[in-house]
Amino acid sequence: MMSGLHYNLNLPLYPLNNSKNWTQLAHKKIDNMPFEGVSYVFFDPHEVLSGEVIRIFNTIDIKLKCVVVFSGSEKNKTRDDAKIHNDVWFDNGAWKNVCCGVTWELGECDAFFNWWDMSSFEKVIPVRYPTVYDNLRGVYYKNDKQIQAKYLIESVHVTQPTLVRTDIPHSVNYKYYGDSQRTAVSLRFHERNMSWVDLVSVLNPIIQK
Ligand SMILES: [Fe+2]
Repeated sequence: MMSGLHYNLNLPLYPLNNSKNWTQLAHKKIDNMPFEGVSYVFFDPHEVLSGEVIRIFNTIDIKLKCVVVFSGSEKNKTRDDAKIHNDVWFDNGAWKNVCCGVTWELGECDAFFNWWDMSSFEKVIPVRYPTVYDNLRGVYYKNDKQIQAKYLIESVHVTQPTLVRTDIPHSVNYKYYGDSQRTAVSLRFHERNMSWVDLVSVLNPIIQK
């Protein structure tokens, strides 16, 4: 049984289509965001993904839910700055875990995805924003001091499209070398109450062996 925290996927290195300048559009939307500290926006997967990516997922028994574009002007986010959280979405009156995402770093960026054992810290449940943000929010943890390395479970350098586990606490730190803004894309699925292990087995046809 495969049960790691991340898998490289056989997918194109650039997932978006050229019908619009999606990254610029995302930057603009994020800059005009009425909520503080939110650095991501949502797009309809069928609108923004390339035909090739759509075709690949059409061969797999999973429904695409949303594409999240993360962007920020910060060039350097250290592991101490990166907020540890686990992903949730609001459904039927309650926050539910989001088990996975497929993540792409679009520019010249050294990004690291880190997983943490936060079982000894108190959880901070999100306050609801307008409904569009119900698709993806984070449960944070009360840690006043910088989190110690002993709580780190694993860290991976994201160099290609990667399936990552998001229902356990994680953070992303990076160093961006490009001229524009660091931009990352995360594809989310209708998980239909599947667990991480179930999702890994559904996505197995595109997992690099
Ligand atoms: Fe996350």
